[in-house]
Amino acid sequence: MSGLTLTGQRALITGASSGIGQATACAFARAGAAVIVNYLSDDQEARQMVEDIRRDGGTAYAVQGDVSTEEGCETLFAQAMEKLGGIDILIANAGVQSDAAFTAMSLEDWRKVIDVNLTGQFLCAKAAVEQFRRQGLDTQRSRALGKILFTSSVHQAIPWAGHANYAAAKGGLKLLMQTMAQELAPEKIRINAIAPGAIKTPINTEAWDSEEARRELLELIPYGRVGEPEDVARAALWLVSDESDYVVGTTLFIDGGMVLYPSFREGG
Ligand code: BGC
Repeated sequence: MSGLTLTGQRALITGASSGIGQATACAFARAGAAVIVNYLSDDQEARQMVEDIRRDGGTAYAVQGDVSTEEGCETLFAQAMEKLGGIDILIANAGVQSDAAFTAMSLEDWRKVIDVNLTGQFLCAKAAVEQFRRQGLDTQRSRALGKILFTSSVHQAIPWAGHANYAAAKGGLKLLMQTMAQELAPEKIRINAIAPGAIKTPINTEAWDSEEARRELLELIPYGRVGEPEDVARAALWLVSDESDYVVGTTLFIDGGMVLYPSFREGG
């Protein structure tokens, strides 16, 4: 029997109105989970998604919320509890870029990215762990008490000129994830991360939407294609399902080989 089902489970996906979050929410709903589609400002897209999921027989709710603040996070979780009665899975996914050369990077650019990509994930993870504990283990739903999956990036490992804030946030996320995994595994809370490479989403449109940009980008991807949000969603589904029950504290790179130093194919 395939364990790639999330029937009876409840998932909260932050930053779910576009890109990887959107594909993940849709994949989870197809796998039988009830999903909270969290969004910051794209009300229309989030509502459309929810409508589509429901039309296909799934369960979904759109909930606005700014994960980078304590109040935003509290409201988001309170509403998620009201809609679903509990949560079994958190996909801490919301992320932004605010790129600038190092000395041109303002404190505001720095804070914005750290606040959303690192602090926001910390706040949501904390709220999720507290909720998992309140609920207790229900092995009918899942072998784990709860699952948290962080959306990291290849830039938790690859330095990225012009993106110091983003790389610092993702590097921080790597050890946040590992530390939480070490601390919480005894409670049967499974914590992992995905590290996508170049995926066709609104965050990096300029990197793939012209022929020239695409050609340059492909130089960095041994597998020879730019990723699709569904490539990541499929891996995320496996990582929160019972099929990966023994996977704890791992980052899964989903990047077509981007972290393999492709420029060394001919050099070194
Ligand atoms: C960034 C994208 C970038 C990709 C590969 C991601 O984490 O958000 O903008 O294309 O990494 O560099």
